[in-house]
Amino acid sequence: MNICIVTGSSGLIGSESVAFFADKFDKIIGIDNNMRQVFFGENASTEWNTQKLIKEVSNFEHHAIDIRNVDELEQLFSNYGDEIKLIIHTAAQPSHDWAAREPLTDFTVNANGTLNLLEMTRLHAPKATFIFTSTNKVYGDTPNRLNLVELETRYEALSNLSSRPIEVDEMMSIDHTKHSLFGASKVAADVMVQEYGRYFDMNTVCFRGGCLTGPNHAGAELHGFLAYLIKCIVNGDHYNVFGYKGKQVRDNIHSWDLLNMFWHYHQNPTPGAVYNAGGGRNNSTSILEAIDLVNKILKEKDPEHTDWDNYTITDKNRIGDHQWYISDLTSFQTDYPEWPGITISLEETVRQMVDFELNK
Ligand SMILES: NC(=O)c1ccc[n+]([C@@H]2O[C@H](COP(=O)([O-])OP(=O)(O)OC[C@H]3O[C@@H](n4cnc5c(N)ncnc54)[C@H](O)[C@@H]3O)[C@@H](O)[C@H]2O)c1
Repeated sequence: MNICIVTGSSGLIGSESVAFFADKFDKIIGIDNNMRQVFFGENASTEWNTQKLIKEVSNFEHHAIDIRNVDELEQLFSNYGDEIKLIIHTAAQPSHDWAAREPLTDFTVNANGTLNLLEMTRLHAPKATFIFTSTNKVYGDTPNRLNLVELETRYEALSNLSSRPIEVDEMMSIDHTKHSLFGASKVAADVMVQEYGRYFDMNTVCFRGGCLTGPNHAGAELHGFLAYLIKCIVNGDHYNVFGYKGKQVRDNIHSWDLLNMFWHYHQNPTPGAVYNAGGGRNNSTSILEAIDLVNKILKEKDPEHTDWDNYTITDKNRIGDHQWYISDLTSFQTDYPEWPGITISLEETVRQMVDFELNK
């Protein structure tokens, strides 16, 4: 039997992974203990997604295991051994701000949890592909020290040499920078994933995500900016913009395009690989620009819609937060020329998310 294990299977990327890989494997095993509800409250619960997957995906099996629990992981991995061909590890504490509240919980979930899964893979399924959803926060606030210029609605980073707009590639240092405690726990995991690839010659890879998004994101104020912003706009609620005049830039990748990267890597893996994985320049937006886009879409649907502007821009940015970030995808594109690149535009993603919120 060919088995794919997905951790964080009820979260955004995990649940989309289950759906994407269901027809490519005999069985998909999901691991998720709904810890997102513990982190961000009832509204961020992913239980609905667990039930949906159980109902809709016939070869899906759910396990409410905590990835910090080695004994329970060991039982599962030893039961299936080398039938396990692919592990997609997305379970995490994903917020900067929350990490500072409980550093021990953050680190044990993000760093120790990842080590537990790597070790289970090494012991029971060493030939499997191990995909880790890392983050651009491993670069800390180094992108803020690029040559940033302020434009009317966003910041832009320019090359010091040519003054042309640039993007961030994988050679940016992850050292000597302020990561936030979340970023630091993800660095620990990212380096371990690379090490299992290089030291044990296992097929491990880190995808350092920009903003990963899509209609299934359970947006919360502390995590999932686009989903949470759209939720506030559609419901007329208030939104806090933390610093940078709302001109902070994020690149957004639809979960489907990210999963297609995973699929291409799995078919031809190399040990210890690292790739930046965001939406790139065409899918980048500032918060101010995102607000305009959502208002435009809502106006198309209802000409009576009055532009939502129920937000406050505070002076203080989040500690270690990026002022500007756009991923350079050249490295993955070069290694996997068959990958079609980004196929879902930011506007299409936002439309899907608006529809999802309107039809809730
Ligand atoms: N969404 C983004 O913008 C983004 C950006 C860069 C990187 N990432 C990374 O991608 C991954 C997935 O992100 P997401 O947006 O799908 O997150 P998510 O919060 O939607 O999903 C994570 C899931 O993991 C589960 N989980 C948390 N702790 C667990 C534990 N101890 N045991 C078992 N399950 C646990 C949660 O209940 C949740 O369902 C994370 O590792 C995150 O750091 C996300």
